[in-house]
Amino acid sequence: MLHNAAVLLEGDRIAAVGSYKDLRQRSGDVVEVTGVLSPGLVDCHTHAVFGAPRLEDHERRALGEDYRTVAARGGGILQSVRDVRARSEDDLVALTRARVQALLACGSTTIEVKSGYGLDAESELRQLRAIRETAAVERAALVPTFLGAHEVPPEFRDRRADYVRLVCAEMLPAVARQQLATACDVFCEPGVFDVAEARTILTAAQRYGLRVKLHADELEGSGGAELAAALGALSADHLAGVSDAGIRALAASETVAVLLPATMVFLGRRAQAPARRLVEAGAAVALASDFNPGSSPTVGLPLVMALAVSQLGLRHAEVVSAVTVNAAAALGLAADRGQIAPGFRGDLVSWGVSDWREVAYWMGGQLVTAVWTGGSACPLPAGPVSLGLHVKA
Ligand code: NIG
Ligand code: FE
Repeated sequence: MLHNAAVLLEGDRIAAVGSYKDLRQRSGDVVEVTGVLSPGLVDCHTHAVFGAPRLEDHERRALGEDYRTVAARGGGILQSVRDVRARSEDDLVALTRARVQALLACGSTTIEVKSGYGLDAESELRQLRAIRETAAVERAALVPTFLGAHEVPPEFRDRRADYVRLVCAEMLPAVARQQLATACDVFCEPGVFDVAEARTILTAAQRYGLRVKLHADELEGSGGAELAAALGALSADHLAGVSDAGIRALAASETVAVLLPATMVFLGRRAQAPARRLVEAGAAVALASDFNPGSSPTVGLPLVMALAVSQLGLRHAEVVSAVTVNAAAALGLAADRGQIAPGFRGDLVSWGVSDWREVAYWMGGQLVTAVWTGGSACPLPAGPVSLGLHVKA
């Protein structure tokens, strides 16, 4: 976070950081800091390709049903799967573009986007192509992740081993051949995919040259964090139920602990990931929105930052690292972005605040005054971006 300074951009990179007076003499575009300037934020965990919002899930939870009961009654992930399977690629691109614009307007210049609402080869690939098409026309950088193992689809309910085989033998090779994802993720949770199934899928992904990450120990601890560390995963995400052994394993590894406090708040759960214990044990902690229609319909990392201070007990400086350098590390991009330093990608956000801690303070406020991606200024939406249009499949 910079005050009273300037940044020189050349091509898509940051060339220098210094005083406006000195940098003005050099060729390139000089960004003068008014207010506070941060690196472009990195949202390292989203499910931004989906159809309609899941309002019935939300209503049922208000009546006291929990996430798993809602899913068992026909809501949950499988509702979004029915929806996405029925949509054309163009429709998915239109929806994803609007959502990516909304994420960017909140300061996220690099956004990881997962598939996982297709759960058959054709629909998973269509989601990943929609991410690629969106990336080609939008200014935010998108990092695609294959999440074919987000849930067991209904047609495989009674033969889940066949679904794991389909993911490994058919979907993964197609994703790798068409270079549609850089990483593979699995929802590893009791009742979804267990640790053995996750290991099978992720080791297959590694054989195809993909990096791996895991939805781990979200609701209950089941060894997901330990598996992530053992596989050299980029990240283990969620972790509200992580065990002491899981914390130790992450601390001793390069795997980033990605915490998603908005999800637990939106689901109305009291448990949050043990952020302080992770930090104090020596784990690298990142934060992300988990933007998705079921458990975290928010596009705003600044809101997540405020929740991280109030719900996780992270300090303001830790929160800033968690959405910049550490989040970049969770995507394998720590040497390329997430810092305002010479050689790093020219992704910057200007905030209309006087003290950098205010970014994590004005809960849900619209604080972004300008954004640069890849070395040049981005037009920001003039008014609110609609997240909820095109809701009919
Ligand atoms: O990260 N935990 C699994 N997946 C998502 C929820 C997706 C959904 O409910 O649609 C999550 O919270
Ligand atoms: Fe998620």
